[in-house]
Amino acid sequence: MKLTIIGTGYVGLVTGACFAEVGHRVICVDNDAAKVKTLQAGGIPIYEPGLEEMVRRNVAAGRLSFTNDTAEGVANSDVIFLAVPTPPQPDGSVDLSFIERVAREIAGAMTTYKIIVDKSTVPVQTGDKVAETIKRYCKAKVEFDVVSNPEFLREGFAVEDLMKPDRIVIGVKTQRPVPAMKEVYQPFNAPIIVTDINSAELIKHASNSFLALKISYINAISVICEATGANVQEVANGMGMDERIGKRFLNASLGFGGSCFPKDLSAFIKIAEELRYDFGLLKEVQRINSGQMDRFLKKIIDTLWVLKGKKIGVLGLAFKQNTDDVRMSPAIELCHRLQKEGAELRVHDPKAMDKAKALLKDVTYVDEMNAVADGCDALVIATEWEEFKQLDLERARKSLSHPILFDGRNLFDPARMEQLGFIYKSIGR
Ligand code: UDX
Repeated sequence: MKLTIIGTGYVGLVTGACFAEVGHRVICVDNDAAKVKTLQAGGIPIYEPGLEEMVRRNVAAGRLSFTNDTAEGVANSDVIFLAVPTPPQPDGSVDLSFIERVAREIAGAMTTYKIIVDKSTVPVQTGDKVAETIKRYCKAKVEFDVVSNPEFLREGFAVEDLMKPDRIVIGVKTQRPVPAMKEVYQPFNAPIIVTDINSAELIKHASNSFLALKISYINAISVICEATGANVQEVANGMGMDERIGKRFLNASLGFGGSCFPKDLSAFIKIAEELRYDFGLLKEVQRINSGQMDRFLKKIIDTLWVLKGKKIGVLGLAFKQNTDDVRMSPAIELCHRLQKEGAELRVHDPKAMDKAKALLKDVTYVDEMNAVADGCDALVIATEWEEFKQLDLERARKSLSHPILFDGRNLFDPARMEQLGFIYKSIGR
């Protein structure tokens, strides 16, 4: 099929590449001329496992191209996907100005029937607004359909999630765009559910909020575990074996971050408020999440006492493993709070150091993870990178002035760490 994706961020770029990979012809549009130039020259502005090779392969095969001309994308496609940012506003509500502008641009360029698909995460009832806008600004007065098709990919696993989705959600007002949408997704062999547009939009906010709730739930349990000598991983394992609960997203941590959960929670709370429902449950999810960071910091201060003048090594800056994304990263927040207490930091991340430099100043960026502990008073693990499990613990123990390790991601076994001579503090164990 001939497809256009507007917006080449995490969702747009990976979606475009995966659609091309299964044989569709895809035009990716972005209004950032510098970004389009980079992409045309074979550069990838984000780190996402498997993406670079996939883009290269499909560009070479002539199935994937990049432009900053929306009209070119619209003229040469049957289905146009919106994957533009929907950033939060100061009051938690969603800024829909990118969606609105692109809807107008598409409308202005349409001369035949088109299917306009929203992939960006938007408040329920946005589809109606997009349809109204297109109708108003479409000079050619042609027919069109608006579809909601939310994206569920996780950063760091985006290619995998897109190629093997759990489900495809297609929200429609009429049946007309359904066959084309099914054709787009047929190569992915996933269950497809067709709903009304409002339900599709809600599925996205409801899913992300539920996953955030799951993390906050286990984080609250971790507090009870610490107070009683229980082990949160054992508890999560025992809970997760009940198929109704499931094991995933029950990893206690110093809190969730990133560009989705915090934003989507605030947005969903705000949407509910506008509908006159006080979504107190989700406010509690936010409260537990920020409390988790406070508790972790307290653990560090309780152990090290005064942080002023102390050197702390921090492993991890990205908001999670396998990504270079540092937006709303708990690791960066922790660094800022340690700096506020007067600590000097030596930091390392396998992929996110370049992006972190814009947000985190006056620290020593260390290229090699095993060198981070050199001359430090304690070591902190802030991101769940798999490779941190391969840390040279013997070297770390010898390099630290005193072998103290705070693990915000429960990567190591407490008994083994004690055997190795560490004072080891993790979450809920
Ligand atoms: C999330 C959703 O998973 C995805 O479906 C949606 O489309 C976008 O938002 P993402 O933000 O990329 O994806 O990452 P995710 O893997 O969900 O992790 C979010 C945060 O939660 C990270 O900071 C991660 O470290 C944290 N987390 C995750 C935990 O603390 N514990 C867990 O058990 C899982």
